[in-house]
Amino acid sequence: KSLRGLNSFGVDVSARRFAEFSDRAELTALLDSLPPGEKWMILGGGNNVLFTGDYDGTVLHPACRDIAQVSDDGRTVRVRAGAGVEWDDLVAWAVRNGLGGIENLSLIPGYVGAAPVQNIGAYGAEAKDTIESVECLLTDTRETVTLSNAECRFGYRDSIFKRELKGRAVILAVQFVLARDPQFRLRYGDVEQQVEALGGVSLENIRRAVIAIRSSKLPDPKVLGNAGSFFKNPVVSQAQADFLTKKYPDMPRYATGEGRVKLAAGWLIDRCGWRGSRLGPAGIHERQALVVVNHGGATGADIVRLARAVQQDVLERFGVTIDMEVNLI
Ligand code: EPU
Repeated sequence: KSLRGLNSFGVDVSARRFAEFSDRAELTALLDSLPPGEKWMILGGGNNVLFTGDYDGTVLHPACRDIAQVSDDGRTVRVRAGAGVEWDDLVAWAVRNGLGGIENLSLIPGYVGAAPVQNIGAYGAEAKDTIESVECLLTDTRETVTLSNAECRFGYRDSIFKRELKGRAVILAVQFVLARDPQFRLRYGDVEQQVEALGGVSLENIRRAVIAIRSSKLPDPKVLGNAGSFFKNPVVSQAQADFLTKKYPDMPRYATGEGRVKLAAGWLIDRCGWRGSRLGPAGIHERQALVVVNHGGATGADIVRLARAVQQDVLERFGVTIDMEVNLI
């Protein structure tokens, strides 16, 4: 099965087998029917993966697309969404229903099931702020468990699903707690200014502002293959950040609260002169240096070659290691 339309980089690879599941029973039956020793992986929207070759195993694709209100006490509303729901459809649904908490995460590509894995975040909000629990199937025991927010051990673009449970749990559904009278988050970048320009603070206007900002900086994967931020923002020691600030007074930096400092990988890459550049068919986006793009016909290897050159350059110039956010397969 060709995976070309199933990865946002648009890399032309295929999987030996491909199957969809829409609930726990279907997933269990699929896992039970795999040939012994067969490799498998979950592929949702394919917005955070880079295939460096054909997948020699079975790709499982979540197709549970229900959004249901679970409870409502007049102030907070619990909402359960299936792993196969498009993330932005959930955000649109919440905003339409006057429920706040995820509006800053508008237009993030991908499926609901992927949101907890890397704790998606943007414009001062993260998925972990509203995720109450995550329902998953543990593949070793075929048990269904519901992990609480604390049990998911969320961090910056991180969770238990990228660590201890990597390859051992399949997310079936995510439960969110949304608010009828939410605390709006407007402090990040141009959000407040854009919201004012649209006529003032409301869920709809925050959604519209975020969509406008994202669309102006980030390439649409349907037009130009990409996986959003290709790298994570590096977190360094206070001492290293201070050393760099002396040399580069305009360098953006954000306190993380634990005495460490997060730097903007996009700025570091930009400063090395990579923004808008190309290496064969792979390139660095011209408006956001954190995004690696496929100008057409790039293979996973072409993209990795460019990414490694960028990492090497940032390390040499700033002494900072930038890790990939995208999963290489
Ligand atoms: N910057 C540059 N040049 C660039 C890119 C950025 O100088 O080419 C500077 C900006 O001017 C700004 C700073 O770097 O001062 C940070 O840039 P921006 O606000 O665009 O955000 P980011 O840190 O580059 C992160 C997330 C994005 C998210 C935005 C907005 C990561 C890895 N990325 O990017 O998430 O949309 O903040 O909150 O944390 C994603 O994960 O796929 C993604 C797009």
